[in-house]
Amino acid sequence: MTAERTQVAIIGAGPAGLTLAHILHHHGIESVVIERRDRAYVERRLRAGVLEQGTVDLFRALGVGARMDREGLVHHGINLQFEGERHRIALSELTGGRVITIYGQHEVVKDLVAARLAHDGPILFSAADVSLHDIASDRPRIRFRHDGQPRELHCDVIAGCDGTHGVSHDAIPPGERQVFERTYPFSWLGILAAVPPSLGEVIYAYHERGFALHSMRGPNVTRLYVQCAPDDALDSWPDERVWFELAARLSTRDGWSVHEGPVLEKSITTLRSLVTEPMQYGQLFLVGDAAHVVPPTGAKGMNLAVADARVLGEALARWYRDGDRRGLVEYSATCLRRVWRAEHFSWSMTSMLHRFPDTDGFQEKLQLSHLRYLCNSTAAATSLAENYVGLEHV
Ligand code: APR
Ligand code: PHB
Repeated sequence: MTAERTQVAIIGAGPAGLTLAHILHHHGIESVVIERRDRAYVERRLRAGVLEQGTVDLFRALGVGARMDREGLVHHGINLQFEGERHRIALSELTGGRVITIYGQHEVVKDLVAARLAHDGPILFSAADVSLHDIASDRPRIRFRHDGQPRELHCDVIAGCDGTHGVSHDAIPPGERQVFERTYPFSWLGILAAVPPSLGEVIYAYHERGFALHSMRGPNVTRLYVQCAPDDALDSWPDERVWFELAARLSTRDGWSVHEGPVLEKSITTLRSLVTEPMQYGQLFLVGDAAHVVPPTGAKGMNLAVADARVLGEALARWYRDGDRRGLVEYSATCLRRVWRAEHFSWSMTSMLHRFPDTDGFQEKLQLSHLRYLCNSTAAATSLAENYVGLEHV
């Protein structure tokens, strides 16, 4: 068995783990990233694509924002649609000029991987059987297999950045953590289509047939979603059915509808809200989806992962530099304030915009009233806008 040492062992090469590795590098702290999948897989995995202003600013400060600045689409507003009418929420006007940037999560991952490898920062792809040991001590270890060989990595701190299906959260003894959870009685069927976006901005549509979302990835690529049943399989959604539902749910009374084009990708995403508390145990710190999941309706998942990485990175820098543990002690509480704000926002957007299977007239009237209020009250629209672009202080 090969035994090695690093300062911070990072499990998972998603946005959380890779961003943390870059922040640590920036502060002269060594880390090793251990990833279960191969490089091509993590660079192709299609996910959401809305970056908050704070996320964009951090990537720029880390020197990994050049392609994002060239190819990302800066948006100043989003649209809410219901009863055949579109209403614009002027995000920038309502938030003192803040914007969102549309840039796919896998593009972010590609940029972070390339920049990490360019400065010889280690990422061990295709690592198997990762397990965590002695996390309550100040000499934690990770064991795994790489290139067929058993390996052991000794470190000061383990960052569990391995997402919902990772092993890190389960390394915290059950009595030491609490899980708060909501499941929703629907999923999203998402497609990527080779067709120019039908509108220059994102559209969230409430419709009696179910929710629909229009987004994009570039001048010639549209990203679209329709609400589907939680147990739907992909083969019950042939392309014609997807386009039929998109047209039905997204068309407006003035005759506007979505452009159709060849479907490049199709997948189903389940919707869930989940928070693990605390996000730390001994020398293990959970970062991103390993600690919390939000439904994609608020576009918060990747931004929360990056925000956690920033809090942990800065806390570790202070500890290594000054021996000051305060940031580490407060890590979980600091992150959870932002996490719960995003949980509430995502839950609220999800509840307002979807058709619930057991819905009744009362619930629909409330949903429509909420939508109308957002479109007619500057105070209500400002609340949505500041959450959407990302709050600086929570
Ligand atoms: N060992 C090593 N790596 C693992 C393991 C394991 N046992 N289990 C999972 N991983 C890897 C996954 O393959 C993935 O590359 O950890 C990484 C976790 O990355 P993400 O799932 O992207 O999670 P995170 O970095 O927290 O980013 C959150 O991802 O799911 C979306 O909507 C979510 O946008 C949000 C973002
Ligand atoms: C996306 O572009 O994939 C997207 C946009 C907004 C969301 C979710 C996903 O709320």
